[in-house]
Amino acid sequence: MDVGKFTHIPKRLVLINRVAGQKIARYWILIFVFAAGFCLLLSHVSNVVSTPPPFAIVRTSNIFLHRNTQSDEGRRLKSIISEDDICNKGTFLLIAVCVSSSNFKQRSVIRNTWGSIVSNNNRVKLAFFLGNPNDTKIQQAIWVESERYHDIVQDNFVDSYRNLTLKSIFILKWSSTFCVDASYVLKADDDMFINVPYLINYLNTTNIHNAVIGQRIAASKPIRNKKSKWFTSESMYRDKYYPYYTSGTSYVISGDVVTKLYQSTFIEPFFWLEDVYITGLCRKRINASIIDNWDFSCLYRPPRGCSYKQAISGHRNSPEEITQIWLEMNDPRLNCSV
Ligand SMILES: *[C@@H]1O[C@H](CO)[C@@H](O)[C@H](O)[C@H]1NC(C)=O
Ligand SMILES: *[C@@H]1O[C@H](CO)[C@@H](O)[C@H](O)[C@H]1NC(C)=O
Ligand SMILES: *[C@@H]1O[C@H](CO)[C@@H](O)[C@H](O)[C@H]1NC(C)=O
Ligand SMILES: *[C@@H]1O[C@H](CO)[C@@H](O)[C@H](O)[C@H]1NC(C)=O
Repeated sequence: MDVGKFTHIPKRLVLINRVAGQKIARYWILIFVFAAGFCLLLSHVSNVVSTPPPFAIVRTSNIFLHRNTQSDEGRRLKSIISEDDICNKGTFLLIAVCVSSSNFKQRSVIRNTWGSIVSNNNRVKLAFFLGNPNDTKIQQAIWVESERYHDIVQDNFVDSYRNLTLKSIFILKWSSTFCVDASYVLKADDDMFINVPYLINYLNTTNIHNAVIGQRIAASKPIRNKKSKWFTSESMYRDKYYPYYTSGTSYVISGDVVTKLYQSTFIEPFFWLEDVYITGLCRKRINASIIDNWDFSCLYRPPRGCSYKQAISGHRNSPEEITQIWLEMNDPRLNCSV
């Protein structure tokens, strides 16, 4: 989420199982292939690599306080927003955006661009998932924003890079409580552009069950070099390889397994890399499959309407770029025949 931290390329990226070029050739963006190196940084950069947070905290945190709790005082003490009526029975797709609590700008840009689909398609819902900013001023601004848009869901764990797995578990918990009828749940990071109509069309024509859909990563190994920022000790993860997982930047969970995935987080030992944990370890535990789809991408696509016309997602686009892509995509004069 915090783009500023992404300065190193994890070695395990080299092991991505597909010839990316094959896919990229469909677009006119091949010069950006190098950007693949940044794909997984979102999930895997950390300044502090020590013992992951104890899982018990998730279960004891006082989540799901209703937003209409009378006094601000009560809410502030618990630092939580639930927003439990975002979804309804007819919800087809819940878009769950992981965003740092202090990132007001990114939320605003998403609301005004690709997230604005919720205002003309009532089967699509949008929710931003926040942790606790541990800062009174920021929290007060979040209350104001929340009262205005009613699209913020916030839990009490400290919003930090190391707590990303907690955030993903929180998405599963919230979805299986308040969005249980959604046919699909999209988890997306805040620096993504998502072509939502294209995604809806794909999901609606394929009718997928028991699966996580995204860009599959195979033959990826834990990094055992103690000097690496992604160092993962044998006690954190014993095996030589991670199970197949999808890039954490954006993936879709079929609605039938959201609750099962959430329940599996009580059994599967906590692991600090969000994508490996949710789409790899927990998914494997419940025997759900991965649908490998490289229309989801952790690659950077150039900020042009045509880059995204035939794609679902792309990574590392700044707020300005997201706005640019959005304007071009919605320009009737857009011509992508090159
Ligand atoms: C929260 O903020 C306070 C004051 O700035 C600081 O002392 C404390 O370490 C922070 N807690 C966490 C968990 O970041
Ligand atoms: C979240 O991250 C912070 C800082 O990295 C850490 O101090 C804290 O224990 C983590 N867990 C929770 C539940 O806040
Ligand atoms: C899926 O396709 C059907 C048939 O074309 C259509 O009626 C329905 O509205 C579509 N669902 C969504 C969520 O767009
Ligand atoms: C998953 O499959 C394995 C092997 O087929 C089976 O032993 C296990 O019970 C299954 N687990 C679930 C949750 O269905």
